[in-house]
Amino acid sequence: MRTQVAIVGSGPSGLLLSQILAKQGIESVIVENRSQEYVLARIRAGVIEHGAVDVLTDFGVADRLHREGMRHDGVYLQWPGERHRIDFVESCGQSVWVYGQTEITKDLIGIREAAGQRFFWEVSGTAILDADTDHPRVAFLDADGDAQVVEADYVAGCDGFHGVGRQTIPESVRTVRERVYPYAWLGILAQVAPSTDELIYALHPDGFAMHSMRSHEVSRLYLQVAPDDVIENWSDDRIWEGLSTRLAIDGWSLQSGPTLEKSITPMRSFVSAPMRWGRLFLAGDASHIVPPTGAKGLNLAIADVKRLGTALARAVNEGQQDLLDRYSDDALERVWQSTHFSWWMTSMLHMPPASDPDRDFLLQMQLTQLHHVTSNATAARGLAENYTGAFQPYS
Ligand code: FAD
Ligand code: DHB
Repeated sequence: MRTQVAIVGSGPSGLLLSQILAKQGIESVIVENRSQEYVLARIRAGVIEHGAVDVLTDFGVADRLHREGMRHDGVYLQWPGERHRIDFVESCGQSVWVYGQTEITKDLIGIREAAGQRFFWEVSGTAILDADTDHPRVAFLDADGDAQVVEADYVAGCDGFHGVGRQTIPESVRTVRERVYPYAWLGILAQVAPSTDELIYALHPDGFAMHSMRSHEVSRLYLQVAPDDVIENWSDDRIWEGLSTRLAIDGWSLQSGPTLEKSITPMRSFVSAPMRWGRLFLAGDASHIVPPTGAKGLNLAIADVKRLGTALARAVNEGQQDLLDRYSDDALERVWQSTHFSWWMTSMLHMPPASDPDRDFLLQMQLTQLHHVTSNATAARGLAENYTGAFQPYS
């Protein structure tokens, strides 16, 4: 089988890239190792930057987001006894949207299927071959176990952190910079109206907690746990007790409800550069991971594929390679900015492990930083600009 761009991975990066290419008359094939049902059920991000919403709108995949998404003009930062609001609009003139990645995935799959996108679901043994030649290929076994090869002009590795895209680039040409954090997030989705109008990020001596939402009826909440903790240790009662304690503030209470899903996610910062090798281009989590505290992972994926889709269109439609040649360097600028912000937010809001001899000192540094960003307009603006992505246009 032949196509113009072979896309490995049907997460938000791969799906949106296929849409951006199709809008510019470019054909692609998507190869995904999970089933469509599994991909549609995956619960992940929830906060979309203003610029990312613009990208989704421009490429015709934001109708439901505009109907059902919730615009948030600020966020609460909290520590014991205090809750302060950072006003994004006042600080930098932008907002974010709360709309689940699960819904974006559903919207994209619906639109791509209706447009006749070629998908291979439930493949195995994916291999990207000859990426450093003019004839790259993606080989795999399809859902029936039959060998398939997709020949393409370009290959996009949109296959997440555990995919084969990054591994295809020889180690001798890759540099990895990484930090693994000494904590993880336990996330729940709950059938209960949010107890807050905007997201709450809380530092507490028992650990970080966060209150987010998916709709007026469904809440999303997170707790800091040890990196080696397992979900079996956390009954629903224990989770709600932890959330109530860590999010407590006078005159406010947390409403609990039936838990629809719960899981634990490790936290790391990871950047592998370059994002290109020959005719293979990486986008999204395949090339970089941020800890979730800054809500940047999905937004970076959208920024990558907007840039990559534009560069591929210029190469395929106009025969100009200049944007493809700059893709990795240009994309990595935003990646490092978001990596820094996510690391900073994470360090400010999570309790160092009990074994850390500097714990008391670090906690004082965190409280001092929280006082500063919530009382100084310039510092608040820095947070607001980074959180909303205000100063990094989606080019
Ligand atoms: P993925 O979503 O990982 O998609 C990769 C796809 O490739 C998958 O479908 C996978 O099955 C497939 N694949 C893997 N290997 C192969 C193979 N060998 N062959 C074929 N297919 C393969 N980001 C935000 O911006 N805001 C947030 O609020 C936020 N919150 C988060 C909360 C949690 C709990 C988690 C876990 C993440 C959060 N993120 C957030 C990060 C965000 O979810 C990711 O950055 C985003 O999913 C990246 O999209 P992607 O398409 O690059 O990768
Ligand atoms: C959500 C996830 C995040 O990582 C974050 O920083 C804010 C919100 C969410 O899932 O809603």
